[in-house]
Amino acid sequence: MSAPNKSFDPVEVEALKPEVIDRAKDEALAAIAGAGDLEALREVKAAHAGDRAPLALANREIGALPPHAKAEAGKRVGQARGAVGQALKLRQEELERERDERVLVEEAVDVTLPHDRVPAGARHPLTTFSERVEDIFVAMGYEVAEGPEVEAEWFNFDALNIAPDHPARTMQDTFFVRAGGDAKDEGESGVVLRTHTSPVQIRTLLDREPPVYVICPGRVFRTDELDATHTPVFTQVELLAVDEGLTMADLKGTLDHMVRELFGEGVHTRLRPNYFPFTEPSAEMDMVCYRCHGESVGNPDNPCRTCSSEGWIELGGCGMVNPRVLTACGVDPEKYSGFAFGFGIERMMMFRHNVEDMRDMVEGDVRFTRPFGMEI
Ligand code: PHE
Repeated sequence: MSAPNKSFDPVEVEALKPEVIDRAKDEALAAIAGAGDLEALREVKAAHAGDRAPLALANREIGALPPHAKAEAGKRVGQARGAVGQALKLRQEELERERDERVLVEEAVDVTLPHDRVPAGARHPLTTFSERVEDIFVAMGYEVAEGPEVEAEWFNFDALNIAPDHPARTMQDTFFVRAGGDAKDEGESGVVLRTHTSPVQIRTLLDREPPVYVICPGRVFRTDELDATHTPVFTQVELLAVDEGLTMADLKGTLDHMVRELFGEGVHTRLRPNYFPFTEPSAEMDMVCYRCHGESVGNPDNPCRTCSSEGWIELGGCGMVNPRVLTACGVDPEKYSGFAFGFGIERMMMFRHNVEDMRDMVEGDVRFTRPFGMEI
């Protein structure tokens, strides 16, 4: 093995010349200072501190120097590389700080801003509540049936055993529709705004063969003034079941099931005799008060606002479908029987949610509807 070349002069190795080293260092420092962002700095780092950077290449030359020359060259290159490394580190920190500050400003979230400037709409509680009622019956196999709001008098009255001179025609204060401009007086057109959803039941019976199990929700119209307990447009849910062998016990069981689903265990109904032309026998249906369960009756120390301490709440009308109605719809009353009931959703919502004024339900003020939730 030959001895190291003692006469070798490191100054003569081009890459290790002080001015070359200094230039490489100065270039590196200038590039580092000029790097405007972290990405640029990464490139500068590769060019000036990477494996193929001039100072790295110079470093490699040191190994070939004679021992006495190694120290000086090593020191020079080492200092230059150290200075570049230090400058890189500082610039890196500086650029990261700048980036963090920028991100904090650009991506700042003002948590005090209103979170939802255009609030999502929601359906009206009357709609969601009638669907709740519908769901109870759909779960039992009923179908939802709908019909027109502008209805032929025949469907709204005649087919339901309400003859033209029947007091019920005025009992249900009717909006008559004038057909064809002023050609006819209202009342002669034969067209009304439906006063109940019973005409939907007629349409269903005419359309299909029993067995028929339908639930008919919808808007109905009566010439009432808008006040705390009346509205000229309101929502009804009526039910019709026509099958072989149906009795009033089926009606009662169905009603009890409905109020239990809507108001909880222990709530049941009672029937009081009444009259409707389209049912025979007919009854008024009440449910036991779901709040006091009747315990407020005769108990002045513990009054109930929901039922006015009466123990019962009136729900609506019901009965066995009048055979004349079945006949009008082509259904054989000897073979089939049916039951029906109907009630107003607004009234039910009033006592279910302690709404004191019916106008709140129809005026469309979101301050009323919002507490019912945002069900869509
Ligand atoms: N249609 C009746 C009304 O609106 C309610 C009702 C329906 C009564 C079914 C009995 C049976 O007043």
